[in-house]
Order: sequence, then structure tokens, then C-alpha cells
Amino acid sequence: MKILTVIGARPQFVKAAPVSKVLRAAGHEEFLVHTGQHYDPQMSQIFFDEMGIPEPNINLEVGSGQHGWQTAQMLMGIEKLLLEEKPDYILLYGDTNSTLAGSLAAVKLHIPIAHVEAGLRSFNRRMPEEHNRVLTDHASDLLFCPTEVSAQHLANEGITKGVHIVGDVMYNAVLGFTERSEKNSTLLNSLNIAPNDYLLATVHRPANTDNVDNLRAIFEAFRELDENIIFPVHPRTRGKIANLIDNMAEFAPKLKLIAPVGYLDMLSLAKNAKTVLTDSGGLQKEAYWLATPCVTLRSETEWVETVNIGWNTLVGADKKKILVAVNDKKTPKERPSIYGDGHAAEKIAKILE
Ligand code: UD1
Repeated sequence: MKILTVIGARPQFVKAAPVSKVLRAAGHEEFLVHTGQHYDPQMSQIFFDEMGIPEPNINLEVGSGQHGWQTAQMLMGIEKLLLEEKPDYILLYGDTNSTLAGSLAAVKLHIPIAHVEAGLRSFNRRMPEEHNRVLTDHASDLLFCPTEVSAQHLANEGITKGVHIVGDVMYNAVLGFTERSEKNSTLLNSLNIAPNDYLLATVHRPANTDNVDNLRAIFEAFRELDENIIFPVHPRTRGKIANLIDNMAEFAPKLKLIAPVGYLDMLSLAKNAKTVLTDSGGLQKEAYWLATPCVTLRSETEWVETVNIGWNTLVGADKKKILVAVNDKKTPKERPSIYGDGHAAEKIAKILE
């Protein structure tokens, strides 16, 4: 079987790592396309190095730009490759512009689409990701859902054929790399911070970074929190913070803004944090698997299960809610397997076969 895989943004590298490994071990041919959506070494190459992801067959080097421009560049590049490579399946991950470009290119060429992380919905149509995932799901032939809830969302939209609940591939990754992260990550030492003595924060959603009131509210909450805060800053966010906050010294030495970190350091930061504050999708789940409570800086989430069982609290960009959620955060006793058994990648490979 020949598979053409499209990845391009940071979370897709993490998701593809376990699946790629299983597919190749089973003797399948994978043609790996990197769209170039993320290109800084700390946003891209470090994941390939740390997670042993094979070198892409091609990097389209599309880079950053407006949604339409960026998606169009990827679409043209992927279409050409699909015509040349004639794969049995195109394999797509998640909900980024790279995902949408892959699905649009393949569906018109009648190349079957397999979508990993199908059926997720935030029901917030202002998020670019919501459009990317809805459109991709409706073009897909095989839909690999992480949860019952995601399969139900598809059923509600009339999609029942080709739907498989396989669990979450990010859990494969967490299980596969936690030990290596414990051995190899030295970040906490170099930051001179002890385990369980800090909060981990990440902010990169346009709803937070591109809305001055929201970003200011989040930073005002950070200023009032007592704990150290380690904040690896996404490039989208860095410029916005610089414009917003004249005097970073007000936050020192409590708030540590650091460059984006690789997968091993991120696992270590999430595992050892008192609480994670984030607007990322993946990190909400990683926190859960690593038994760290999460406060989500959004008003809705695709990962509703973590909220329902008390490990995750939705606070939006509301300063008061952030402070209450962090200060009152209690760790629930139960941590059931809500995202499968950590073998989603193996199940996906079998179904593709
Ligand atoms: C993208 C995804 C988002 C995902 C996130 C993970 C879309 C619509 N969004 O958002 O779903 O959660 O990746 O990180 O696909 N930049 C750099 N260096 C890089 C990459 C980006 O400096 O290597 C800067 C550029 O200024 C760029 C901005 O970050 O304009 C945003 O990058 P982009 O890929 O458009 O979206 P993300 O915010 O990363």
C-alpha cells in the first residue's frame, strides 16, 4: 500500500510520528509531504529529530501568509504530488490549513482520504480550524475518531460510513516518549525551577493573540498569580506581547518567557507543572495523560471529556475566572482512559490495510 501523508504544523508532527512508524514497520510505502507551514527549527525540525520522524520526501516550503494564499500554495503543490505519486490513500491529521489543502487536492482527484482526529467540533465557526475539520471530514473516506463523542458529531452531520473510533494518536506519542523526556530534558534545571513549583502557560490562538483585550486580561491574571509561570512563546504571540506590554520587568522574575520548546521538553514541562494554562488543543490532553490539571483559556473545547471529569476548566480570557480556576484547582481522584488505550496508530494501520 502506498500512502501520501501531509503534515506541516507542529501538532501534526507529533501525531504523525507514531503512525508513520507503524506503517513503515508493516512494510508500507509512505511518501511524506511537509507543507512548510511551520519552518522555524524549534517549530519543525526539532520534532523530526527528537521523535525519529523520517525525513520528508519533499518540503513545499510554503511558509506563512493569509489563509487563502497559504492554503492555495499548498493545494497546488499537493495536487502535483498526488498526480505524480498516485497513492492508494492520502493521510491527513487534525485541522490546520495543511489538512484542508490535502483534502481539497485529493477529493477532486478521487484519491481516498484518511483523516486522523476526525469528528472533533468546537462549534465555534470563528475558528479557522473548525472549517478545516468540517470540510475535511465531509471529503474523507476513512474517519479515525479519537472518541465516541467525535463519532457522534459525524453521525449528526450524516457521516456514518468509514467511521472508526480508534483512540488518540497523541496518547501513543505520550506513552512512547515520556521516559525519554524524563531522562533527557534538562530544561527545568536550566531554568532553575523545581518540579511542581510553577504553572505552564501557552497561548497562540488568534482569538487570544489578536484580541488586545483578551491578551491583556490573560497577562493581568498572570501578574496576579503567585506562582512562577513558564511560558514557551509561539512566534504568533511574541510580537503581540511586545506591542502590549511596555514593561516586562513588572512580571519578572515570576514570568519566564522562553522560546518554543521541542516535544521532550514540553512533556517534561507539562508533567511537572502544578497546573497547565493553555489555549492549545493537544496540550489539554497531554496534561490529562500526565496527570496535571488544566485551565483552558478558551470558552469551548473539542476535548469535552477532560472538562466533564473535572481535570480541565474552561475560563476563556476572563481574568477573574482564570484566577479562581488556578487558585481553587483540585486534582480529581479518577483519571479514566477517555482517549483509548495508546494503540490508536496500530489500529489506524490495520484499518488502512
Ligand atoms: C497553526 C494552526 C493551528 C495549530 C497551530 C499549532 C491553522 C489555521 N492553524 O496555527 O490550528 O494549533 O498551527 O502551532 O492552520 N510563524 C513563525 N515561524 C513558524 C511558523 C509560524 O514565525 O515556523 C509565525 C508567522 O508569523 C505566522 C504565524 O506564526 O504568520 C502563524 O503561523 P500559522 O502557521 O499561520 O498559524 P499558527 O498560529 O501556527
